[in-house]
Amino acid sequence: VVKIAPSLLSADFGRLREEIAEVTKGGADLLHLDVMDGHFVPNLTFGPFIVEAIRKLTKLPLDCHLMIEDPLTYGPQFAKAGADIVTFHVEAEADPGKTLDAIEAAGARAGMVVNPGTGPERLRPWLPRCAMVLVMSVWPGFSGQKFMPEVLEKIPVLRDELGYAGDVEIDGGISPATAGAAKAAGANVLVAGSAIFKAPDRGAVIHALRQA
Ligand code: DX5
Ligand code: ZN
Repeated sequence: VVKIAPSLLSADFGRLREEIAEVTKGGADLLHLDVMDGHFVPNLTFGPFIVEAIRKLTKLPLDCHLMIEDPLTYGPQFAKAGADIVTFHVEAEADPGKTLDAIEAAGARAGMVVNPGTGPERLRPWLPRCAMVLVMSVWPGFSGQKFMPEVLEKIPVLRDELGYAGDVEIDGGISPATAGAAKAAGANVLVAGSAIFKAPDRGAVIHALRQA
């Protein structure tokens, strides 16, 4: 079964309560929260303080995608703010084992992310400990970019060669037009920002993503 994770990066933060209510009613399975530090990626978003506020607005699981250089320091803070799962990039300058431990000790599930240019085998030592692997299908930093189909070949490698049986999430350029290919490759969590929030009927897009 595929899960749909609307990315709030494309939502209207001035009316976040209504935006969350609409995607909840529309059938969202989790909320994807994009955290950027202006160093790991050339954009800035929000920190644990906002996650804490969002936590109070919804019962949906919060999926925090950390695009930051120091996930060991900040990952646990997002867990404490109410994230259910915290993922961080293997490309960040961090000790992944220690970071996974620290996030879990702070009360969230932990997972790891690969950029378009990073092979899935980079994750091998930590895969047994990842509750989720996020495969980026754009270079991280901004919503509304074009889907990169060439990243999909990593998913069968994760599943078959590396024996990874946990959640595989795909993020970037996912729409009803690209979701089918991502699912066929083996992704079971689909993130979508602009496809959902730029549409007048969010529920219809969530449904179309599920059916794709
Ligand atoms: C990009 C973020 C994505 C982004 C997706 O760096 O990680 O989650 O919000 O937006 P779309 O679906 O518009 O590509
Ligand atoms: Zn993301």
